[in-house]
Amino acid sequence: MRAGVVGVGKLGGAVAFALAQEIPWDELVLVDALEGLAWAQAEDIRHGLPGPTPTVVRAGDLADLAGADVVVLAAGKGRKPGMTRLDLLHANAGLVASLGAAIGQVARKATLVVLTNPMDVMTTLARQASGLPRERVIGSGTLVDSVRLRVLLADRFRASPAEVDASVLGEHGDRAVPIFSRAKVRGEPLELDPGSKREIIEQLRGLSARVIEGKGGTAFGPAGCTAVLVRSLVSPTPGVVPASVVLRGEYGLRDVAVGVPAVLGQGRLIRVEEWPLRSDEQAGLQEAGHDLSRYVEDAAIVLGQAVRHARLEDFAAP
Ligand code: 2OP
Repeated sequence: MRAGVVGVGKLGGAVAFALAQEIPWDELVLVDALEGLAWAQAEDIRHGLPGPTPTVVRAGDLADLAGADVVVLAAGKGRKPGMTRLDLLHANAGLVASLGAAIGQVARKATLVVLTNPMDVMTTLARQASGLPRERVIGSGTLVDSVRLRVLLADRFRASPAEVDASVLGEHGDRAVPIFSRAKVRGEPLELDPGSKREIIEQLRGLSARVIEGKGGTAFGPAGCTAVLVRSLVSPTPGVVPASVVLRGEYGLRDVAVGVPAVLGQGRLIRVEEWPLRSDEQAGLQEAGHDLSRYVEDAAIVLGQAVRHARLEDFAAP
């Protein structure tokens, strides 16, 4: 199996390292507009794999993604303190559309995993630009939101995160929807009053921002969760992972990527699970989907013709 990571700054580099630790690839290719950075990250990762590993980690360019099974797209600007993910829409839309088109041309059998923010909008754009079927374009971010919720609930109920079962759906951003109706601590359903729920939602919204304030950006959280998502994706046995996928009527939404329970396996999205949700959760999901659709339209206007005219040569490393 072969994988590539496009955009290997702090976040993409951490993703590449987590992928190398989590899965025995035949080859893991790191691509970045800064060729020296891709080489340095690849070399550093090689030095961080002391155990026996079959994985060849190396720097390459987009053409080297031909034949890849999985390509992770982490290129683009990251959030600075005080920014929301949607503040990055205009900064990253052109890049994601162009790279999506290039990856779709060269890595025809790959599944594309998108991390660039605003992740749900970028997943929708990457699907459109790459021409890949929706089963092979997956946005990563909903799992890290879910793990953040599990950590918050674990701290609140003095449990270990492993004893908490909870998921977040909706936007990877301010319209994230914690699914309290299915959450359990030590196997027991949660009894939370509306005030406590509001408090947890606020904490969840602020958590990544606090990490960004403290260390300049998030890395281990999204990287570790993306590696777990990819492991599930390439596994022959299907498993449910909260992830962003372009919907086709599920949860009453269409043509926009939103975080949902995705059944992943055999290298693709197998199907979306439709959980029975409480009315406020269903309404939260609808609101997220409709707002994200508007941002996708906004991005499409900004992009104009760019998607159709993207050429691979424009992005190959010199
Ligand atoms: C996060 O939530 C990078 O959006 C990503 O950490």
